[in-house]
Amino acid sequence: MSLSVVILAAGQGTRMRSALPKILHPLGGMPLLQHVINVARQLDPANIHVVYGHGAEQVREAFAHESLNWVLQDRQLGTGHALDQVMPSLSDQDTVLVLYGDVPLIGTGTLQALLDQAAATPLAVLTAELADPHGYGRMLRDSHGRLTGIVEQKDASAEQLEIREINTGFLAANVGHLRRWLSRLDNSNAQGEYYLTDVVAMAAGEGIDVASSSAGEASEILGVNDRVQLAALERIYQRNRATQLMRDGVTLADPARLDLRGELRAGIDCAVDVNVVFEGIVRLGDRVRIGPNCFIKNATVGDDVEIFANCVIEDGMIGNGSRIGPFARIRPQTRLAEQVHIGNFVEIKKSHIAAGSKVNHLSYIGDTNMGSRVNIGAGTITCNYDGANKHLTEIGNDVFVGSDTQFIAPVKVGDGATIGAGSTITRDVPANELTLSRCPQQTRPGWKRPVKKPESGPAQD
Ligand code: UD1
Ligand code: MG
Repeated sequence: MSLSVVILAAGQGTRMRSALPKILHPLGGMPLLQHVINVARQLDPANIHVVYGHGAEQVREAFAHESLNWVLQDRQLGTGHALDQVMPSLSDQDTVLVLYGDVPLIGTGTLQALLDQAAATPLAVLTAELADPHGYGRMLRDSHGRLTGIVEQKDASAEQLEIREINTGFLAANVGHLRRWLSRLDNSNAQGEYYLTDVVAMAAGEGIDVASSSAGEASEILGVNDRVQLAALERIYQRNRATQLMRDGVTLADPARLDLRGELRAGIDCAVDVNVVFEGIVRLGDRVRIGPNCFIKNATVGDDVEIFANCVIEDGMIGNGSRIGPFARIRPQTRLAEQVHIGNFVEIKKSHIAAGSKVNHLSYIGDTNMGSRVNIGAGTITCNYDGANKHLTEIGNDVFVGSDTQFIAPVKVGDGATIGAGSTITRDVPANELTLSRCPQQTRPGWKRPVKKPESGPAQD
């Protein structure tokens, strides 16, 4: 006996009012469907089947990296019809677990509990008690509390509408039984759809005890139908991630003002100020401090690094003890060794900067290899681009670069060189010498500023 997961995801998602299929809308930087697939994977199923329909090609393309059994539902004739499309791929002795592509916060613990119940009886459903059950199918029980069926909102009597126990949609069932029930579904109901929910009454009619359980967290069963719900789920998701980070030992100035769109691993005693966005895979060493309003994507940050306010860091490695910002931009393929200082209004692109070097003010360093203990003066620019190609600037160890220097790449600077402020360096610079390129300063004695001429033009009356 093995487990198959079916994810129902063929619905159109009309209320999103979007050209993008609903299940591709991101939550925490990841498509809704990806969240559901990730949860399914944790249950170690033999197969994951996705029933898809709306936006078919776009959906399949977005998940080309996943090994999934795609099952096309051409016309969306209801949840029962959707599940029935998968039945030919399933074996009677197996268990099937039904998930939803637009209910992304469902947890493995909740699903495992549902599966445990399905091990004892052929059908188990996940239900919830809601203060406002409007819109959901209602659970019908007999006087002994046994489940006898589910009635949809649109088919329910006034009395049934009072029931507050609702159907979440999640269920686990034995495939053999399910196959029999699904073959008997009809669509004589208010919506003219084949309702998956009708299998509960069929099971009960056969004298089968239908099990039910409830979710660990109320938010786990929430679905996304429109962008308002998407935003609400995003906040819940972010709050959960922030809580986990704090439990793992990260100090957050305000857990409501952190956004995690990927994976963040942090060492001990890291502190993150407000409005920081992490994307992709970010690793922080120990005691990293991040100031407010930073965007950090796919970066590896060493121990004791301080990132001041308003920095953007993308695809970079930052060595132990370095200081970045405020207002610095670290662009892809940058590697900073230990104790590097990058100051305000500095942009670094595709450059390696060795230990102890400083670029503190208003500079652009691109396509550069810089040695250790280099001091780059304010306003230094590597002119790496000739309009067609990028060229390398190579700066040795212990170089001192005066302010407002331009390096016209390709160019090399020897160890220990000093470059006078305001220089335009077009040729290689020898080690240990002072090099500068500067126009001689002039003074013109007695020079007068021009004065404004009296206004000329037609005479006025
Ligand atoms: C369904 C349940 C209802 C439950 C509610 C929980 C039925 C008949 N009703 O109602 O009891 O309270 O979910 O949210 O099952 N889908 C397909 N193909 C289809 C129809 C739907 O793949 O032909 C997918 C949708 O993409 C969606 C899911 O199934 O992910 C649920 O469909 P939806 O139309 O939202 O069902 P509800 O009417 O909300
Ligand atoms: Mg729905």
